[in-house]
Amino acid sequence: MMKGDFMTNSTIRDMAKSTNQNQSENAADELARQQFFMERCCEYVNAFKERMGRLPRACVTTFGCQMNARDSEKLIGILRHVGYEITEDENADFVLYNTCTVRDNANQKVYGRLGELKGYKRKNPEMKIALCGCMMQEPTVIEKIRTSYGFVDLVFGTHNLFRFAELLYTSFTQNGMVIDIWKDTDRIVEDLPVERKYPFKSGINIMFGCNNFCTYCIVPYVRGRERSREPKDILREIERLVADGVVEVMLLGQNVNSYGKNLAQPMTFAQLLQEVEKIEGLRRIRFMTSHPKDLSDELIQVMKESKKICRHLHLPLQAGSTRILRDMNRRYTKEQYLALAEKIRREIPDMALTTDIMVGFPGETEADVEETIDVIRKVQYDNAFTFIYSRRTGTPAAQMEQVPEDVVKRNFDKVLKTVQDTARERVARYQGQVMDALVEEINESDPTLVTGRLSNNTLVHFPGDASLIGQIVAVSLDECHGFYYMGHSV
Ligand code: SAH
Ligand code: SF4
Ligand code: F3S
Repeated sequence: MMKGDFMTNSTIRDMAKSTNQNQSENAADELARQQFFMERCCEYVNAFKERMGRLPRACVTTFGCQMNARDSEKLIGILRHVGYEITEDENADFVLYNTCTVRDNANQKVYGRLGELKGYKRKNPEMKIALCGCMMQEPTVIEKIRTSYGFVDLVFGTHNLFRFAELLYTSFTQNGMVIDIWKDTDRIVEDLPVERKYPFKSGINIMFGCNNFCTYCIVPYVRGRERSREPKDILREIERLVADGVVEVMLLGQNVNSYGKNLAQPMTFAQLLQEVEKIEGLRRIRFMTSHPKDLSDELIQVMKESKKICRHLHLPLQAGSTRILRDMNRRYTKEQYLALAEKIRREIPDMALTTDIMVGFPGETEADVEETIDVIRKVQYDNAFTFIYSRRTGTPAAQMEQVPEDVVKRNFDKVLKTVQDTARERVARYQGQVMDALVEEINESDPTLVTGRLSNNTLVHFPGDASLIGQIVAVSLDECHGFYYMGHSV
């Protein structure tokens, strides 16, 4: 699929073509271009208000990972900027699904909910429905939407998200489905509006895409090649966030450990962290995700000496069998992973380790699953996300011999039980101690409690009110309940 292939508006298509051809055009020009379209969108919103006597309402629903969550903040930033009222109710004037395709169940959820949206649109014919995100980078998905979901108004992908204002305007001014999917991009556009979900914490993209091509994974195909942002842009963004009340940042990338390799002036992730550490007023630094094959001794030392980097490392294992790891193209062995986990624990004993584990990768036997269980027992994770392998079109693993469903299910239950048993013990080790928690919200089920996050990422619920949100509070960890604590502030 080529850039702009499906665009039905010829004027916009020509504009897009001319800018894409000129790769030297800088981000400032693109920013000006999007500002132009934001102004046009404002005019549309004002006209709507005159006509309807109210502001139009927009709802953005996010599927998938932290990257998508951050992208949604950018999409909401633009919608708010042009005058939309933001709502969580999907019975709105503009509904946007920011999709994920890492496993098939994420796709099925989107198709299911689109059916519901169709019902809303029947009652409100002016309603606009838009789809974006990783799923849209798959040609088979686009084909299905064109043929079976003709009521969708706008479809775009991951590479042209920075053109959202322009695409929004295009969908206002023309009938029929607007589809614009780019195959890839080398552009990073800075300084578009963003609306954060939390006033006190924020995700920050430090890189985009992935070059690892784990054989099961669709991310490199839908997010493109790895590109790092310039350190000065990252630091400037964090400084602005801190000035705006942010105390905790999460640096985001599919493999943050390879940050900076492709910059004109290369820089390591550990060096970037040292620069971020210097930002005054910033209290906590987190990052996601670390690929075990690229985790350096330099990074371990920087984490060890840091006062701000949280005591939590997410280190995806995927599988414990060296043979399966090789077929997955993970580029580490069981022994190398265990040695790395041991080194981290030795250097930084209070570091919580969490992981991702997949069960049912092609060719996985019960003996392989026992190897995974062995690693879980040895490493003693604080938490682990366990997934059933999902066959993704176009990935090498999709061509391999698949494991029967009943075998996968049995193995999955075994792995899940091991994770739960070991994590319960591990999380409980701080019972009775006092630790700092960043208060994030009022407890969902009991409004007399607030929920805070410890440096090691464990949650603690304790009596408090909304005035504590965004504050770092010393909390006594009274009782451990599996993956979380009940406590009281001291
Ligand atoms: N870049 C991160 C992972 C991003 S995807 C890393 O390399 O660790 C998040 C998790 O989804 C992965 O760690 C993996 O466990 C899971 N995942 C990815 N592809 C999958 C698939 N085809 N089926 C099931 N789980 C998958
Ligand atoms: Fe997927 Fe592997 Fe890249 Fe992670 S590192 S996004 S699992 S290809
Ligand atoms: Fe899903 Fe895309 Fe993230 S496929 S996991 S939303 S990078």
